[in-house]
Amino acid sequence: MNNARSILSLALSSLIALSACRKDQESPGGIKDDSLPHRYANGMVSSATPEATQAGMEVLRGGGNAVDAAVAVGFALAVSLPQAGNLGGGGFMVIRMADGRSTTFDFRERAPGKATRDMYLDSAGNVIPDLSLTGALAAGVPGSPAGLLAALDKYGTKPRRQVIGPAIRLAAEGFRVQPGLAANIAEKLHDFSRFPSTLAIFAPDTIPLKAGTTFRQPALARTLQRISDSGAAGFYSGTTADMIVRQMERSGGIITHQDLLDYKPSERRPVVGTYRGDSIISMPPPSSGGPLLIQMLNMMEGYDFHTIPFHSAAHAHVMAEIMRRAYADRAHHLGDPDFFSVPVAGLVSKEYAKSRAATITDSATPSARISSGDMSAYMHESPQTTHYSVVDKDGNCVSVTVTLNASFGSKLVVDGAGFFLNDEMDDFAAKPGAPNLYGLLGDTANAIVPGKRMLSSMTPTIIIRDGRPWLVVGTPGGSTIITTVLQVIQNQADYGMTLREAGDAPRIHQQWYPDTVYYEKGAFTTATLDTLKSLGYKTVERDAPSGRVDAIRIIDVDGKRWMEGYSDSRGYGSAEGY
Ligand code: DON
Repeated sequence: MNNARSILSLALSSLIALSACRKDQESPGGIKDDSLPHRYANGMVSSATPEATQAGMEVLRGGGNAVDAAVAVGFALAVSLPQAGNLGGGGFMVIRMADGRSTTFDFRERAPGKATRDMYLDSAGNVIPDLSLTGALAAGVPGSPAGLLAALDKYGTKPRRQVIGPAIRLAAEGFRVQPGLAANIAEKLHDFSRFPSTLAIFAPDTIPLKAGTTFRQPALARTLQRISDSGAAGFYSGTTADMIVRQMERSGGIITHQDLLDYKPSERRPVVGTYRGDSIISMPPPSSGGPLLIQMLNMMEGYDFHTIPFHSAAHAHVMAEIMRRAYADRAHHLGDPDFFSVPVAGLVSKEYAKSRAATITDSATPSARISSGDMSAYMHESPQTTHYSVVDKDGNCVSVTVTLNASFGSKLVVDGAGFFLNDEMDDFAAKPGAPNLYGLLGDTANAIVPGKRMLSSMTPTIIIRDGRPWLVVGTPGGSTIITTVLQVIQNQADYGMTLREAGDAPRIHQQWYPDTVYYEKGAFTTATLDTLKSLGYKTVERDAPSGRVDAIRIIDVDGKRWMEGYSDSRGYGSAEGY
């Protein structure tokens, strides 16, 4: 492809040689081989908290399969990671069973029945700041309890009490508050102070929980017990539902008993693609994650990255242009497939990717000159989140991303029930062209409609190599989720990095608008940044880390299959196996 040739010549230019290949150093991610993760043969869990990882390990050791363990991790994260783990939010689960079946569970929140398209606009048509982010009106109808239990029912092997048990214990007996959680609570004290039900748990007497203290959540333990006893009915009807609806009445929210009763998770066929022969299994709409990941990988296949040094200006240029084009499509073509005809087959087609990548030149294309691609030929076809990965001894794999949206969601705890409600309504396009919390744009495809699911970027993914699972991967990070997963894949597939090197390597991000390339500290040399500027790029160093990957890679060593885990050095999680 012409692009590949011109990029190659670019790569060979003396300027770019200055920023050359990190392979000359000890390793691409700067990590020495002796720090490789331990290997396990019988099962592995990688999640954002040690407590949740332990909950999953307990279920695996007790003979549960990867789905049983994933459900246990999900409930344990609702206790140990209140910023993102949840009962009051939603998420996506991608499953690949050892017999080759693959599926997904969509337990994304839905707009309440009383939601309206313009509910976050004032009478002049302007977006009212914060209304879709903080408080009762920000919440979509929660999906996590129903989704986790639906996956357990169909693909798990253990009874509810066994997989929810570890979370109930954790809530009742408590766990030690980590510095990260203590800092996050202190940061949000101002928002929490609006909600007595939140303060009572996280900052009694307005003093935020301190690192090292034991944090017990008896109300949450009782809610979990009701779910364990009665299944989804223990959340969507009876005592818990009454508490949610009472909270809505007190705080000006609109979720009703009927909304809760109507909530059903959807089992959906995964979106699948290939990258240089590996099969990619990922989350379909209402996530934009799977379609965009595959679209970007398809565009990347036109380039020979062996000739493009890692994090050189040429590399950054190709990746930023690919990201820009994909995110322009996200804004226009993606939304809840139950409400809007999403051209998934077109978005993930190799042919479409070729035509889209053909517009990449030797310099930055201003975002104003890129619009969403023409899908007419395809129209006939029908800062807080957390990711975790589980593999069991039989090779069943589960990749799950769950979220409340912002850290601690709407900041509103349901009084008496002990859990946060999400602020996922902000993921809808409140108004065409008005950016959401992550600067993402959208229009009709992602407009608010009662019962509709808001568009997501969450990208839980499983990759199959030579017919067997190779990588289970995902991350939080809002709009950067998709590009983070993309780079963790590319770093291994194209740059030969270990899983840890691939995760630790600084990341870059472009999302169409803002017309800027964001990068983590250390991603580029000064010379590379100068080159990017001369190519027309505006670059900005992020002050916060980009995502927190929790992944498992399965490798062959001496004819035996081993699991290696990675929990991002940017977080406080843990990967463990046995
Ligand atoms: O579903 C989405 O795309 C967003 N609600 C995810 C938010 C997120 O990842 C924030 N965490 N860092």
